[in-house]
Amino acid sequence: MTDAKSDPLAPAKSTPFGLPLSVLAEITHRCPLQCPYCSNPIEMDRAASELSTEEWQRVLHELADLGVLQIHFSGGEPTARTDLLELVQCATDVGLYSNLITSGVLLTKDRLAALYQAGLSHVQISFQASDETLANRIGAHRRGHAKKLEAAKWTREVGLPLTVNAVVHRQNLHELPDLIDMAVALDADRLEVANVQYYGWALKNRAALMPSEAQIEEATAVVDTARKRLLGILEIDYVVPDYYALRPKKCMGGWGRQFFNISPAGKVLPCHAAESITGLVFDSVRDHSLAWIWEHSPAFNLYRGTDWMPEPCRSCALREEDYGGCRCQAFALTGNAANTDPACALSPQHDEIFQTARREAADGSSRFIYRNFIGGTAEPEVENNDR
Ligand code: SF4
Ligand code: FES
Repeated sequence: MTDAKSDPLAPAKSTPFGLPLSVLAEITHRCPLQCPYCSNPIEMDRAASELSTEEWQRVLHELADLGVLQIHFSGGEPTARTDLLELVQCATDVGLYSNLITSGVLLTKDRLAALYQAGLSHVQISFQASDETLANRIGAHRRGHAKKLEAAKWTREVGLPLTVNAVVHRQNLHELPDLIDMAVALDADRLEVANVQYYGWALKNRAALMPSEAQIEEATAVVDTARKRLLGILEIDYVVPDYYALRPKKCMGGWGRQFFNISPAGKVLPCHAAESITGLVFDSVRDHSLAWIWEHSPAFNLYRGTDWMPEPCRSCALREEDYGGCRCQAFALTGNAANTDPACALSPQHDEIFQTARREAADGSSRFIYRNFIGGTAEPEVENNDR
């Protein structure tokens, strides 16, 4: 590894783009679920290539030295790592706020209690639906939903704050009122209503997942009403999905501006989906310090700031508000990550993309191409699978 102190390219004390406050640590790509909207890269890191416990501990120390405040342990399924407790303890020891982003299906109450004792600050559990049969069909896990409900209950019983993450799409948006009720019943502080993002594996399933405009209008109204009714009880995060928006989201707060992601094998990425952009080379914590990567990695600098922008972004008054939207989406939909995100109504591709979404939503296909760690699209083990 190249140490920042001895590295001739070591960063200066201050950088023109600030420092990251929050980091996503994908400690493994292994996962017991097979969600059709999986956000992990098409080519996943194998277990043998994962960073060791000692390597992750060194990374956690570097993060604290860099001024990072929060670490989100994610995956894949982070509880598939048997050393999760040691990693959480190390995060606590170096002063990081730690959040566990999990499907919940591998957790036990004893393990959650031990994680709490080790200083874990927060748990986020993902749900595929509120109806058990539908949830198990989407996640392709026979007992997944029941296990998630159990894990959510234990999370609160051991004293940890809980966020429910509900990934929504055409096949479960009708359940949004029930998902909100479920989050309240589970005593969650926050509900993330997360519309599927269509890059990587999810793009393969876009036709089966794309909601209709009518569904989005109804969902927005449901959330507005629930926010008023549940003020002080449940915070609800929700944004209109890209395909139906007029302006793109400020993805990651801007490429390389305030966030990075570390892959199971130690690659440092400007966002969790950056590996879907072919042709980019990502530096590894095995070769460089995090401080060096944050300042010098070519992949970070490629789309940093506004100099790289083409028209219409280059001369747009909003270029420093949204930084041209999402690079991964621009690549997925136009083949060039440097193009304006087609979610923007000023993009020349916007109309075509919007019409495609409308057509796919109307076609009504419900067939999923499932994700599995072995790399195939094996039939899931669920019963009552109506595909
Ligand atoms: Fe944002 Fe570019 Fe659209 Fe302007 S043209 S709103 S900068 S994406
Ligand atoms: Fe990668 Fe938006 S998800 S930049």
